[in-house]
Amino acid sequence: MTKIALFASGSGSNVQAIAEAVAAGSVPAEIALLVCDKPDAYVMKRAEALGIPAFSFQPKQYESKQAFEAEIVEQLQTSGVEFIFLAGYMRLIGPVLLAAYRNRIVNIHPSLLPAFPGKDAIGQAFDAGVKVSGVTVHFVDEGMDTGPIIDQECVRIDSGMTRDDVQKAIQKIEHSLYPNVITKLLTEHREEQTR
Ligand code: GAR
Repeated sequence: MTKIALFASGSGSNVQAIAEAVAAGSVPAEIALLVCDKPDAYVMKRAEALGIPAFSFQPKQYESKQAFEAEIVEQLQTSGVEFIFLAGYMRLIGPVLLAAYRNRIVNIHPSLLPAFPGKDAIGQAFDAGVKVSGVTVHFVDEGMDTGPIIDQECVRIDSGMTRDDVQKAIQKIEHSLYPNVITKLLTEHREEQTR
């Protein structure tokens, strides 16, 4: 089974969805590590309940991004992690992690990129009054939500919907799209290895 790491900073509903899909046997992976930059985040409780090993850290306790990323890379390599999936990790990935896992880091973002990159994409789309938004899964590069797009799914924003309604609709799509994309990527990776 391919070992993967999930990175998160918040509630962790995507972590939960991926872990449930792994447990159900529909995602061919082992979640070897959860990396979290907020030790108090709810996702840490989920990881404990799900039995996922977790590494949490406080960025401020390190000299630099380079320093904490070097420690993350060490943890990932010790756990045998081959792919990283960001699931609400609210931090730009720096050169140390990118060099160690080039083309092996994937992110999910709650908009149809390149529209509404960065923070609060759902709020940005809602405030702009767009009638269609959605979810993007993409490879991570040095930019903010800029790497090659792997898949997207759209969500209609009908009049009368609140920001909360939009968030619920987007998250519902995330929870099925992300496990599906992970399965596709890992299956392709396996096929390449056995060729
Ligand atoms: C998700 O909607 C994810 O797309 C978003 O954070 C949320 C995390 O929710 N990510 C970004 O905005 C990244 N730029 P969760 O903690 O419940 O999975």
